[in-house]
Amino acid sequence: MNGPGQAREPGRAPYVDLHCHLLPGIDDGVSTLEEGVELARGLGRLGFGTVVATPHVRSGYWENTVESIGPALAALRGALDGDDPEILFAAENFLDDRVWDLFKQGGLIGYGEGRAALVEFPPQAIPIGARDRFFEMRIKGCRPVLAHPERYAEAWKGSEKIEPLADGGAIFLVDLPSLAGKFGRSPRRTAERLLDEGLARALCSDAHRPSDLRHVEDGMERARRLVGDEGLVELLASNPREVLAGRFEHV
Ligand SMILES: [Fe+2]
Repeated sequence: MNGPGQAREPGRAPYVDLHCHLLPGIDDGVSTLEEGVELARGLGRLGFGTVVATPHVRSGYWENTVESIGPALAALRGALDGDDPEILFAAENFLDDRVWDLFKQGGLIGYGEGRAALVEFPPQAIPIGARDRFFEMRIKGCRPVLAHPERYAEAWKGSEKIEPLADGGAIFLVDLPSLAGKFGRSPRRTAERLLDEGLARALCSDAHRPSDLRHVEDGMERARRLVGDEGLVELLASNPREVLAGRFEHV
C-alpha cells in the first residue's frame, strides 16, 4: 500500500487537506462508507483535489495501524471515481509515551515517506518535554506537524508558550473549523492570531463528518479575508504539498 506523496494528477483541484477523518469506522470520524464518500465529495467541491486521511492513533482509544487503515482506505477509494479527490493516508498521532516508543521503533505513520508526521497532545496542556521530542524527531528526519495549535489552552493568551515549538521545527496546522468558531471564541481568536503572526503554516479541514463541511467552508472564507487569495493558496496548496513531498523550503 502506498502512502501519501504520490504525484499529483494534472487537472486536480489545487487544495490539499492534510488532516481529515473520513475513513469509515476506525476512529471518531465518519462511521459509514456513505458518509466518507459524502465528505470526500464535499471537500472536492470546496477545491480539495487531495485529501489525506489521518485516523487517530491513540493508546487505549484508537490503536490504528497500517493494517487497520488499509481496508478502510481501499473501501473508500473503491467507492470514489476519477472526478473525486485522491485519498492518501497518514495518521493523527497522540504523542504519549507509547506512541513515542512507536516513533523510536520507526513505526509512526507519517506523511509521504515519513519525513513529516501529524501529532497532537492532550487539550489541557502541551506536555513538558514536547519541544525535546520535536527536536529529536527533526534530528531523525521527521518534521512534526502540530495539529490544531489554536485549541490548546496555553496558546489562547499569546504565542509565547507555543512559539518555541515552531522555532524547533514544528509546522503549525490550523483547523479551518476553528476559524469558523466551531470550537468557541478562544480557539477562533487564537487561529486568527496565528495566521496574523505567520505561525500558522497550513490549514486543514480536520473534518469528522459531512456536517463539518459548512465549518470548513466558513473557515476558508474567513481565512481568505485575513490572508487574501495568495495567502490561502500558500496555506492550502503550496505548503501542504511541501509536507507531502518531504521538502520544507517554504513551510
Ligand atoms: Fe483530527
